[in-house]
Amino acid sequence: PEATYGGFYTREQMREIIAYARSRQVTIVPEIDLPGHSYAAMHAYGDLICDGVDFPVEGKKGRDAVCMGRPETLRFVKDVVDELKAVFPPGSPIHLGHDEVSAEAWKKCRYCQNRLKDLNETDLKALSRDFLQQIADYVRKDGYDAIVWDEAGELEADKHIFVMAWRGNDFAAAAVRKGHPVILAPCSHFYFDYYQSSAPTEPKAIGGLIPLRQVYGYELPELSPEEASKVRGLQANIWTEYLYDMGLVEYMAWPRALALAERAWSDCDPRDYKSFRSRAALALKLLEKLAVKYRPMDEED
Ligand code: ACM
Ligand code: ZN
Repeated sequence: PEATYGGFYTREQMREIIAYARSRQVTIVPEIDLPGHSYAAMHAYGDLICDGVDFPVEGKKGRDAVCMGRPETLRFVKDVVDELKAVFPPGSPIHLGHDEVSAEAWKKCRYCQNRLKDLNETDLKALSRDFLQQIADYVRKDGYDAIVWDEAGELEADKHIFVMAWRGNDFAAAAVRKGHPVILAPCSHFYFDYYQSSAPTEPKAIGGLIPLRQVYGYELPELSPEEASKVRGLQANIWTEYLYDMGLVEYMAWPRALALAERAWSDCDPRDYKSFRSRAALALKLLEKLAVKYRPMDEED
């Protein structure tokens, strides 16, 4: 049967949405987060679970990485990639995840251990490196780009894979030095799901604290000009576990996205927060007209 997206859209509608975004200079990037963060997929497809794991209980305790030894896993991922290729035009990036992977379940799984022997390796990291490389090759063979989180940048994966550095500048610099193109998305400055102030009136969020001033004050990693040419841009992440409607997403995004945009696209001074504030005040008037539910700037800040 034909897939539906979010239970709402057909494949054809997805193609139209993606093309419309493109016409507005927006590139939509799908992420398949593997091999960790895969609890939902493992629930739906039991043959992705390692031997000896007491699922679903243990899945909730961090053993939510798919099995690296069962052939079903690669077949499943290739299926998902094929579906993405059916809706995203060639040249699109496809994000392959690889953040926060627990190798716990792989230690005792006979499929994973057999796979490790086949690879002639002893370190469990070899399992995820080999898995990543196979998927990245599969993604790229029709002209798509592969992106991974910075944990995978440590796997000695091939250098054409883009690394998205969420854990901070040190991880970004390490990936650049290994030769990867890098996108900077540090959770210290650009996680817009974190609180914007410590006021008790803030809507419930996942945690953290990143006020507007902090977003604007982001300093780039120290890199040589040649290394810096590997940096492709800045990105904010806005995970939506706690953001149950679009109004909340807008509240968390704005005005912080204004600060990100200036830092990413102009030569502004990150210490001149005051002049940014005056431009942001004008931009917020525009957002007001567009009925965007932004968070008003604090008087004091
Ligand atoms: C991430 O926030 N785990 C990418
Ligand atoms: Zn396994």
